[in-house]
Amino acid sequence: MSVAGHDELGRHFASRVVAWQADHGRHTLPWQQTQDPYRVWLSEIMLQQTQVATVLAYFERFLQRFGDVQALAAASQDDVLALWSGLGYYSRARNLHRCAQAVVAQHGGQFPRSAAQLAELPGIGRSTAAAIAAFCFGERVAILDGNVKRVLTRVLGFAGDLSVAAQERALWNIATDLLPTQDRDMTAYTQGLMDLGATVCLTRQPECTRCPVRDLCCGHHEGRPQHYPIKTRKLKRSQRDNVWLWLSWGSRLWLTQRPEQGVWAQLWSFPELDNGATLAELSKAWPGQAQPLSPFTHVLTHLDWLLRPVRWSLPEDLSEQQVSAVTAPLGAGRWMSLDEALSTGLPAPLRKLLVNSAGYPVSVNLKG
Ligand code: ADE
Repeated sequence: MSVAGHDELGRHFASRVVAWQADHGRHTLPWQQTQDPYRVWLSEIMLQQTQVATVLAYFERFLQRFGDVQALAAASQDDVLALWSGLGYYSRARNLHRCAQAVVAQHGGQFPRSAAQLAELPGIGRSTAAAIAAFCFGERVAILDGNVKRVLTRVLGFAGDLSVAAQERALWNIATDLLPTQDRDMTAYTQGLMDLGATVCLTRQPECTRCPVRDLCCGHHEGRPQHYPIKTRKLKRSQRDNVWLWLSWGSRLWLTQRPEQGVWAQLWSFPELDNGATLAELSKAWPGQAQPLSPFTHVLTHLDWLLRPVRWSLPEDLSEQQVSAVTAPLGAGRWMSLDEALSTGLPAPLRKLLVNSAGYPVSVNLKG
């Protein structure tokens, strides 16, 4: 499908989006008040898979702590993960840190100014690179994130299957054909597409009556906007079930750092055991006894993870040697005070469990 067959669309689409953005789009988000690529980049990474309302607080806190790319590059990975804790998708935080280091090491601390160069940096995909280049440098380059794919496939009646790489490429090409002709419109157009996707062209209940391009929209004319985008390859979900061992000794708790790959990579967490029988076997000689807490399901993109927290409090007067015998089979880890634990990178459900158990106000959850 090409825009040549959509002359009408090609002529009107961009100007409608630009005009609509001026009157009905979002203008007061903190990352819209600046063309500083550090701030725009940070916001775009945080906004991947995360709602604006959640990002707002994290964005401000992050900037207070790391005011520029140099400060972020010089930080420890643990500090970066601690500030990210609760936002999820932690590979974003690790790439963010690596990207800051690359900007300092390879670009003298200045973000490169073209989408093509930005896309070479860690964690910056084609659409994010385009958003930064359009917002900060007015480059005429197309974005195509999940929201924009929904808007464009509906408007175009795009029948291709986006799980097929060639179809996705075709949509990128059309997105490029639809760009406004003037560089100066790029900020409003790019933001307008995002705003349209986030506030009008909704996944389940699109609000076509409020849409500035409904008369141009195939999906609307067909009476089935929700039919698009077409994606046949469905995500395969899996299930997992673990005992989550909350081991304490006096006022400290035992945490292990998770591996570099996989869920919660490199965050500090309770040891996971296969099941209750594994815990029974391991704990045969441990003083004290298991206190099972309420199990809960933690829902991740690919995984429903049933976690069964079990508390085990070791008596305070145990010797270091006796305690080492308990922790040795649990793998590498550390005893941490509650405050220490709360100021490191923790998975969100663990933070919640600890904060609730301590009766702490949630505001202690991040390093100042
Ligand atoms: N989602 C991704 N980028 C965004 C932006 N700049 N504003 C609002 N939502 C977004």
